[in-house]
Amino acid sequence: MKNRSLIKKALIALASGFAFITAIILLGSCNGFGKLGGGVDSTKGLKDFYADYFPIGVAVSPRSLEGEQGELIKKNFNSLTAENVMKPALIQPKKGEFNWADADKIVEFAQANGMKVRGHTLCWHAQTGQWMYQDSLGNLLPKEEALANLKDHITAVVSRYKGKVYGWDVLNEIVVDDTSAAKVYRESSPWYKVAGTDFIPLIYKWAHEADPDAILFYNDYNTENPIKRDKIYNMLKGLLDQGVPIHAVGLQAHWKLNDPTEENLRAAIDKFSSLGLDVQLTELDITVNMGRNDPDSTFTAEREQKQLEQYKMAFNVLRDNKKKITGVTFWNVSDRGSWLDRGGKKAYPLLFDENLKPKKAFWAVVDF
Ligand code: XIL
Repeated sequence: MKNRSLIKKALIALASGFAFITAIILLGSCNGFGKLGGGVDSTKGLKDFYADYFPIGVAVSPRSLEGEQGELIKKNFNSLTAENVMKPALIQPKKGEFNWADADKIVEFAQANGMKVRGHTLCWHAQTGQWMYQDSLGNLLPKEEALANLKDHITAVVSRYKGKVYGWDVLNEIVVDDTSAAKVYRESSPWYKVAGTDFIPLIYKWAHEADPDAILFYNDYNTENPIKRDKIYNMLKGLLDQGVPIHAVGLQAHWKLNDPTEENLRAAIDKFSSLGLDVQLTELDITVNMGRNDPDSTFTAEREQKQLEQYKMAFNVLRDNKKKITGVTFWNVSDRGSWLDRGGKKAYPLLFDENLKPKKAFWAVVDF
């Protein structure tokens, strides 16, 4: 009798243990294997969560494609932008002397891993060899000569990557931040000094001739600021009315914890796409640095939370607008190194931390 009841007890214990384990397995599978507590799948990369929305890109240097950073890039991104090496000063440092090697590395890595490539940038006031618009004494070249240099540059670069780079930031940052609505153009730009606004339709025409399939962008920052947004809108409308081949607007999206507001972001996307243009975020980062009066810019829990909320707001708006948004690109890979880290102050602007691990903001962005 004693033995029997012992066996019975043992059987009951075994059965309930089995039921317990089965229940755990079932619970686990409802939640999906590989999913974290919050119901988010940890085996997927950022690009996989957004597969039904838009490509997710990142700005890279050739070196960042190596080692564990390279692995993180492959897992999370399906579009690349050269952070610097396709800029005029780097790709054609001297007249007729091209340095293709670094840009080629990025394009080859993208091709090997099934990623898209955005080209950045063909015409800019910065990071451009002075030889293109100035003589050795520092005098501006005659308009025809400077524009011939620019045409040769654009034709050579766009032709080389025809069919490999799907779109180009043809013109970068020609509109000023000035709050007066009357002042539109960055008059300090060497290209403005050389040719007023005459160069603008021409550079789009040259890029289009070199690769008729390439999507041609106008790219700028502070594009959500209503005053600057409207200046850009008016400029683009004028160019489109003249038949200039412009297909898309890049909102750089170098943002802050409290800027832009949701209202201004939605309004900017609506306004630019009302011109029939695609819209992309081309250089997204959200700094926690509050500017000159911010003595340390440490990544406090409060800032972490505000950054998470700003990222969450932005991606909600982007998902709502998936028909208008054709890409979202981050400017740099992780908080280990951002172009915004300066003078000992770190900006912590991205979704991956200094150890390349996803931050809380990452999980907020993929939890929808
Ligand atoms: C920045 C790069 O990240 C830096 O490494 C470089 O020193 C300066 O340029 N707007 C742009 C980008 O269009 O090309 C800039 O990239 C950031 C602001």
